[in-house]
Amino acid sequence: MNMSTRYMGLALPHPIVASASPLTRTLDSIRQLEDHGAAAVVLPSLFEEQILQEQAAYRHLMEAGAESFAEALNYFPESDAADRCSDRYLELIDSAITGVDIPVIASLNGVSAAGWVEFATNIEAAGAVAIELNIFYIATDPNETGTTVEQRYIEVLRSVKSAVSIPVAVKIAPFFSAPANMIRQLVDAGADGVVLFNRFYQPDFDIEKLAVSPVLDLSRPVDIRPGLFWISLLSDQIDASIAASSGVNSSAEVIKYLLAGADVVMTTSALLRLGPEYIASLHEGLTEWMQRMGFASIEAMRGTMSRKNLPDVEAFERTNYIEVLDSYRPRWG
Ligand SMILES: Cc1cc2nc3c(=O)[nH]c(=O)nc-3n(C[C@H](O)[C@H](O)[C@H](O)COP(=O)(O)O)c2cc1C
Repeated sequence: MNMSTRYMGLALPHPIVASASPLTRTLDSIRQLEDHGAAAVVLPSLFEEQILQEQAAYRHLMEAGAESFAEALNYFPESDAADRCSDRYLELIDSAITGVDIPVIASLNGVSAAGWVEFATNIEAAGAVAIELNIFYIATDPNETGTTVEQRYIEVLRSVKSAVSIPVAVKIAPFFSAPANMIRQLVDAGADGVVLFNRFYQPDFDIEKLAVSPVLDLSRPVDIRPGLFWISLLSDQIDASIAASSGVNSSAEVIKYLLAGADVVMTTSALLRLGPEYIASLHEGLTEWMQRMGFASIEAMRGTMSRKNLPDVEAFERTNYIEVLDSYRPRWG
């Protein structure tokens, strides 16, 4: 059976990829993911804020010492300390690409097209095969329009693309007025791949402490639905690779995403719950299902349930929406 797939030009032996998480934070855990069969790994994100903070600390030190170059040099040990975050990131890339044979994708997370994006060149020089650009921007200003927000995404992508020649995928959340058009715009602006979707970790309220509390819930199978919908709608309409992300808890979700048209399927929550060895179970479940259903390759099954066969998707979705609401039978009333 041919399980191979391609993602942004990378030839992978199968489509199951470990997405950015604490499990890809050290060489040891990346090795475990490789040993248990991950086709590729995405490193945790380096954040715009971390890079800007280091750049500001460096500028501050240089300005403070501008009167005397010799004196300025005294600041360098401290400057080294301030640089550690991005240095450590480059060291992680370096150790991962020499320590494992699977492709290592770096991840940058930011919201503005400022000087930090130049760090992408260091990532490329360190040997990452691709960059995943996680743009996580929450438009809280009621005066900011959707068009401005979309433009911001495009500008961040363009800046990173102009800094590197390795492929760049954009990871976004589904919360746009017109996600299909936003994704098309990103591809037109040069995205080699799209990661659909990021999860939005909304904070909760602690009603005893009257405080806002950050919460991180691991995903459930139902969380595949937005990705499943948009991937099945877009997989034959965009000229870029598609990575499915969110909600993979078993091989069933991997299969669904591939049927929708994803090139690779990423997973984090399942691996955090069950350990890196769970990759082998996901792979086994996928191959067992393909055998049973008579699919000889990933290529043969990929996209077979995409929406391209529906003449009028919009009408179909409206009908589906009405039918779903109508079919619910309440226990009371
Ligand atoms: C603890 C934790 C840390 C994460 N760190 C990152 C990160 O650094 N960068 C990123 O793009 N996504 C990060 N994610 C998001 C995952 O890569 C993934 O997109 C998300 O968990 C949805 O996939 P899942 O349903 O398989 O968990 C993180 C998720 C978790 C649970």
